[in-house]
Amino acid sequence: MSDPHQVLIVGVGSIGERHLRCFQATGRAEVSFVETNAALRVAISERYGVCGFADLDAALADQGIGRHPAARRITAAVIATPANRHLEIAIRLAEAGIHLLIEKPLSTSIDGADLLTQIVRQRGLVVGVAYVLRCYPALGAMRAAVLSGQFGKPVEIVAVCGQHFPTYRPAYRNTYYVDRATGGGAIQDALTHVLNAGEWLVGPIERLVADAAHRVLEGVTVEDTAHVLTRHGDVLGSYSLNQHQAPNEVTVTIICQSGTVRWETHAQRWRWMIHPDELWHDEPHETQPRDAAFVTQANRFLDAVAGHTSLLCSLAEGVQTLRVNLAALASIEQGCWQTL
Ligand SMILES: NC(=O)c1ccc[n+]([C@@H]2O[C@H](COP(=O)([O-])OP(=O)(O)OC[C@H]3O[C@@H](n4cnc5c(N)ncnc54)[C@H](O)[C@@H]3O)[C@@H](O)[C@H]2O)c1
Repeated sequence: MSDPHQVLIVGVGSIGERHLRCFQATGRAEVSFVETNAALRVAISERYGVCGFADLDAALADQGIGRHPAARRITAAVIATPANRHLEIAIRLAEAGIHLLIEKPLSTSIDGADLLTQIVRQRGLVVGVAYVLRCYPALGAMRAAVLSGQFGKPVEIVAVCGQHFPTYRPAYRNTYYVDRATGGGAIQDALTHVLNAGEWLVGPIERLVADAAHRVLEGVTVEDTAHVLTRHGDVLGSYSLNQHQAPNEVTVTIICQSGTVRWETHAQRWRWMIHPDELWHDEPHETQPRDAAFVTQANRFLDAVAGHTSLLCSLAEGVQTLRVNLAALASIEQGCWQTL
């Protein structure tokens, strides 16, 4: 399939607007969108000079009529609504033969995941989940180094993460975040990124036990602090995250048999150490604006649609991390280990 692609963004709230802007920035896509909020629909249409539809029916019905250039045959879509709507919208679009990039988490329930997988297979569609950490250059470089075997086999992964959510998402009380049923709480909203990255780095999680609680964030009761112990085969894992500390930091350390590697989002770098009495060796890195990873993600998705590359995070990997999220929530409810 040749450029430009006709890409429909479904939901242009906080992250949907970023996707719209970043797909435009690729220079390879004509973009239109669906947004149920009328005021936001008008604002985004005017801000980006693109066509906005009030619902999916209108967007799909308009195809081929050519009311607006971007309303020609839609070839791909990004689903950026709250997570409880992702699978229902994905199934509808997949049935129409449209390739998909679906925001994380894939859903808040496993219902519909098998049906989507079946339709995707039957129709030969490209469908990925937008776990954007996989587009951060320093994390990708660290993963390549670990996979090369130069530090020996990984034996342990330790992730320590925190962010002051009210600073970065002041409207959190008025979004999906307030309720686990719509994808809220620290596990489904934030820790899922790091758990997915951990699976990418050292393999799928096979069992886990979790602890979490609401400790600080005002105006919500969902967990804002979470700890998860994991097993990725032989690799022992530990992940902690809170959404109220001042430092905005994600540190992921992989301890291998003959060396230790560490990725630090706040420093946009990865580093390694082999001998006990040496300093960290810092790998060269470039500082990037936040949109950069999303433009990379958009380009990688369009490349996959064009058949040039595989997806950075496949539907199957997104389903696996959905199972991890649900197992973590079940572990908290039941107070015991969960096997996936
Ligand atoms: N990758 C990331 O870094 C990242 C960051 C934030 C959010 N997210 C994920 O993206 C998704 C959306 O999050 P957000 O922060 O943008 O939420 P948001 O509430 O800001 O935006 C969601 C938008 O979807 C619209 N919407 C709801 N139902 C719709 C429908 N049926 N059709 C069309 N539009 C509809 C809403 O009106 C709203 O504008 C969530 O799954 C969230 O977890 C990912």
